[in-house]
Amino acid sequence: MALSVPKALPGVTLLVLQLLLAIVALSRASLNVHHYDQACPRAEEIILETVRKATRNDPKVPARLLRMFFHDCFIRGCDASLLLDSTPGNQAEKDGPPNISVRAFYVIDEAKAKLEMACPGTVSCADIIAIAARDVVSMTGGPYWEVLKGRKDGRVSKASETINLPAPTFNVSQLIQSFAKRGLGLKELVAVSGGHTLGFSHCSSFQARIHNFSSTHDTDPSINLSFARELKKKCPKPNKDRNAGQFLDRTASTFDNDYYRRLMAGEGVFGSDQVLVGDHRTKWLVQSFSEDQGLFFKGFVASMVNLGNVGVKEEGEVRRKCRLVN
Ligand SMILES: *[C@@H]1O[C@H](CO)[C@@H](O)[C@H](O)[C@H]1NC(C)=O
Ligand SMILES: *[C@@H]1O[C@H](CO)[C@@H](O)[C@H](O)[C@H]1NC(C)=O
Ligand SMILES: *[C@@H]1O[C@H](CO)[C@@H](O)[C@H](O)[C@H]1NC(C)=O
Ligand SMILES: *[C@@H]1O[C@H](CO)[C@@H](O)[C@H](O)[C@H]1NC(C)=O
Repeated sequence: MALSVPKALPGVTLLVLQLLLAIVALSRASLNVHHYDQACPRAEEIILETVRKATRNDPKVPARLLRMFFHDCFIRGCDASLLLDSTPGNQAEKDGPPNISVRAFYVIDEAKAKLEMACPGTVSCADIIAIAARDVVSMTGGPYWEVLKGRKDGRVSKASETINLPAPTFNVSQLIQSFAKRGLGLKELVAVSGGHTLGFSHCSSFQARIHNFSSTHDTDPSINLSFARELKKKCPKPNKDRNAGQFLDRTASTFDNDYYRRLMAGEGVFGSDQVLVGDHRTKWLVQSFSEDQGLFFKGFVASMVNLGNVGVKEEGEVRRKCRLVN
């Protein structure tokens, strides 16, 4: 035993290294903007049409689809694990605690049904989410970019893993760490948070900032005073309206850099938004994005591409229905 250990170690280490290198090489090589050019040339057009129609019927669809992409990629990588329904033996991600505003699954189902008619078994659910997220950004005034495609769909989804999503109460160090675990840096953290330009929050996610915040402050002192009054009016305690809440910037149906201007003015809604200006590591990015929308758009596109590469699966299936494994 004692003898075999030193002998075995270098071999094992080398093998692990080779495996890691192979995984990195594969994940870079496999995704491609032309992935469906031959196999399903109308794929992106079909998805865009579906997303447009859904947005006309419900203006909350863009925020929800953008958030869906983020949530999917943060748990088990961008593999559409978020779309799987719970089964008798398994509670799935979508039924985990922070599920309240990801209600746009029907849009993906609709796009998938049309795609299965046009080119059966070809376009993965993970790619549909990535394309839909790009579409809602460009549709609401944000930048357009070519989406890398070729992701496979995962077969595992566990509600217990949603605990690994960054919480609205996270401080900067926790946010940085959560992004770093997915290979994402400061720029991705600040730029992806800018997706909140399309967001809405229910009172429960920021309640603790405006009522009985700490033993010394009833209200989080990082909130602008007049904004705190506005929040308290919308979210009194006790609050009977389950749907009450606040948009995350002042132009919530437009994808722009107003989110960062709000942060600079102390009008971040989540603690995890406002802390980005309370720390020198992230404040300079918030400030530059608040002053230069073009810079934000460039940073956002690069960050969405990087987010879309997180934990991508090479092997696996293209689900026929996004709610069920094949
Ligand atoms: C959300 O999660 C809760 C458990 O935290 C669950 O009871 C509920 O069914 C889930 N789904 C929706 C759409 O609220
Ligand atoms: C951030 O939160 C973690 C966990 O609660 C804590 O350990 C850490 O000290 C906090 N960091 C800062 C800078 O507040
Ligand atoms: C405020 O919080 C403290 C403990 O942090 C608690 O003792 C007190 O009852 C709370 N007050 C209200 C009005 O909720
Ligand atoms: C608080 O918000 C008001 C209204 O948006 C703004 O005029 C003011 O500059 C803000 N205060 C601070 C300290 O940023």
